[in-house]
Amino acid sequence: MPDLLDQPALDAVRDEALAAFAAAPDLSALAALKATTVGDKSPLARARQAVGALPKDQKADAGKRVNAVAQALGRAFDDRRQALEAERDARVLVEEAVDVTVLPSRPVGARHPLTTIQERIVDVFVGMGWELAEGPELEHAWFNFDALNVPAHHPAREEQDTLWVDPPGSGLLLRTQTSPVQVRSLLDRELPVYVVCPGRVFRNEAQDATHSPVFGQLEGLCVDEGITMAHLRGTLDAYAAAMFGEGTTTRLRPNYFPFTEPSAELDLQCFSCRGASAVPGGEPCRVCSSEGWIEVGGCGMVNPAVLRACGVDPERYSGFAFGMGLDRTLMFRHGITDIRDLYEGDVRFTLPFGLEA
Ligand code: DAH
Repeated sequence: MPDLLDQPALDAVRDEALAAFAAAPDLSALAALKATTVGDKSPLARARQAVGALPKDQKADAGKRVNAVAQALGRAFDDRRQALEAERDARVLVEEAVDVTVLPSRPVGARHPLTTIQERIVDVFVGMGWELAEGPELEHAWFNFDALNVPAHHPAREEQDTLWVDPPGSGLLLRTQTSPVQVRSLLDRELPVYVVCPGRVFRNEAQDATHSPVFGQLEGLCVDEGITMAHLRGTLDAYAAAMFGEGTTTRLRPNYFPFTEPSAELDLQCFSCRGASAVPGGEPCRVCSSEGWIEVGGCGMVNPAVLRACGVDPERYSGFAFGMGLDRTLMFRHGITDIRDLYEGDVRFTLPFGLEA
């Protein structure tokens, strides 16, 4: 019988391997021990080969003893592996724990004040039962002009300095106003229609402190039976009170718009001085330049030509419409003097507004 099949020799092989398993500090060290303890080139493998070479009558006894060692090592290896895995899992849980209560180290984004004021205004009208309507920024001239009673070659087309879109003659443009959403709403919806349509509009204008080639508008349209100018006035006053405080009123001054008849300029009573600065001897007011009123947009009774273009019978239905500048509204509400601040994306400007609900 070769020496390596002696029981003391097998015990020594086993004890050495068990000691090495116990000393393996981690899973990769344990895996590396496999070849030298139970693998092809291990003393155990050599012992197995030696068993094969023994005379028949000695094989069974030697084989049993070698197998006992092999089983002991297999069990010990698995036990140590499980113990090391458990240690690793426990360590990972501690080392990679995330404290979700820690405040973020980078500033979170803030919502843009134009977005928040737009939502506030829309909420006022939704509170009165109106619906939100939207239209595309890339619009066709028919919706932006023709259906709104602005004929081809009418100066109003140039007044709004349209940005036309290639190819020339396609009739495509960047909408110059939110009024085309009036047309889309009348074509898409069942009557009566009560909608507010906020959005961006575009004009071929140089940028300065009070002009921007892109700005926000909010359109309102109501078409129903028996609608009069009194409804327009009442609605605008209700809006003014909801946005700027109870008792804030509006003023309409005659004006011309092709899509309304009669048409009016829409002024809001100055929410700061409530008109007191315009009275002789009154304290000067910076918000309204002591005018007492702030111009916010236009309005009027929907021109029957617009109703007809949208397939609505002007004998049965009438309506009013208004359009106001979102940037203007935001600027005087917060004392902003340069419209560029709204578009330059500097978070030092937008952050304080972003904290608004
Ligand atoms: N679309 C007009 C503009 O951009 C504003 C306007 C005036 C809208 C009168 C209306 C309205 O709905 O009735 O200057």
